[in-house]
Amino acid sequence: MATRRKIKKVKLKIKVKWKNVIILLVGTILIIFLSVKWIGWIANSLKEDNKKTPEVKETKKKSTKPKEKTPVKTEEEKKLEKLDNVNKRIDFFNMNYLDRYLDYKEKNTELDIIQIIKNVNMHLDKEVYEDTEPAKYLNTTNILVNKHYYLEENYEPENLEAIDKKYALSGMKMVKEAKEAFENMASDAKKEKLNIVAMSTYRSYDYQVDLYNRYVRQDGKEAADTYSGRPGHSEHQTGLAVDVYDNEIDYTKFEKTNEFKWMNEHAQEYGFILRFPKDKENETGYMYESWHYRYVGIEAATYIKENNISFEEYYATKIKDWN
Ligand code: DAL
Ligand code: ZN
Repeated sequence: MATRRKIKKVKLKIKVKWKNVIILLVGTILIIFLSVKWIGWIANSLKEDNKKTPEVKETKKKSTKPKEKTPVKTEEEKKLEKLDNVNKRIDFFNMNYLDRYLDYKEKNTELDIIQIIKNVNMHLDKEVYEDTEPAKYLNTTNILVNKHYYLEENYEPENLEAIDKKYALSGMKMVKEAKEAFENMASDAKKEKLNIVAMSTYRSYDYQVDLYNRYVRQDGKEAADTYSGRPGHSEHQTGLAVDVYDNEIDYTKFEKTNEFKWMNEHAQEYGFILRFPKDKENETGYMYESWHYRYVGIEAATYIKENNISFEEYYATKIKDWN
């Protein structure tokens, strides 16, 4: 009996040992399997990282700030700086006149920069009748004819019409729109017992040749140039200008009449401006003429009157014929 028990114990012991061996074996296999998986995973991650690296480098490269370089200024930028970069503040700066602005500024140090731009736009940096240009905006109320802009010999405005004889000497013609505005103005003045009479309106080039030559013979060229346009340079050729008088006293004394006073208050309401005012001789190029009016339309006339500017300044800052 005792011997049998011993044998059983030994068998049991052996049994227990086998169990351990199996557990150990399974455990080891599991560990090895997991280790292999893990190593594979690490290896893959490293591969991915390697792939990404160049991009990262690229991004880094891109985000790196460029080396601080001193910006190189163009000649134009340097010139604009000398003009206080005024081109950024006004809309009537003409880049084509850049060198002229600079020259004029150097010669006129007392003028502020805006006035410099305006004056050059009005061609006040040039001698009169020097480098003249053909007038633009033909047959419109924006047309400018003066000592810098001329009309061709054969230019005759469209739609010329005779003014009603009640308000004009015989044969006086103006462009339809101006003629109608003039008749309305003269008619309203008449209601207040005032006579506004057109005594010189549209004049052809040939007519101006005779007139100018007569003035030159009479007063000499220098004096004639102060009150008469040379042929092609008279605004009368546009059909938009009118010389008036009160039907009684000499037109050169028009300033003394009630008609003048009335026109001074109301002409702009009909689209007319006093074309050669007292204080604007250097801009218009002509002496003061209280009798010469120009049709520009109500909007422009009102602006010019309210701002006390010449038609030259209006043209140089509002019409801007380089656009
Ligand atoms: N009297 C003006 C200036 C002209 O002749 O046009
Ligand atoms: Zn005139």
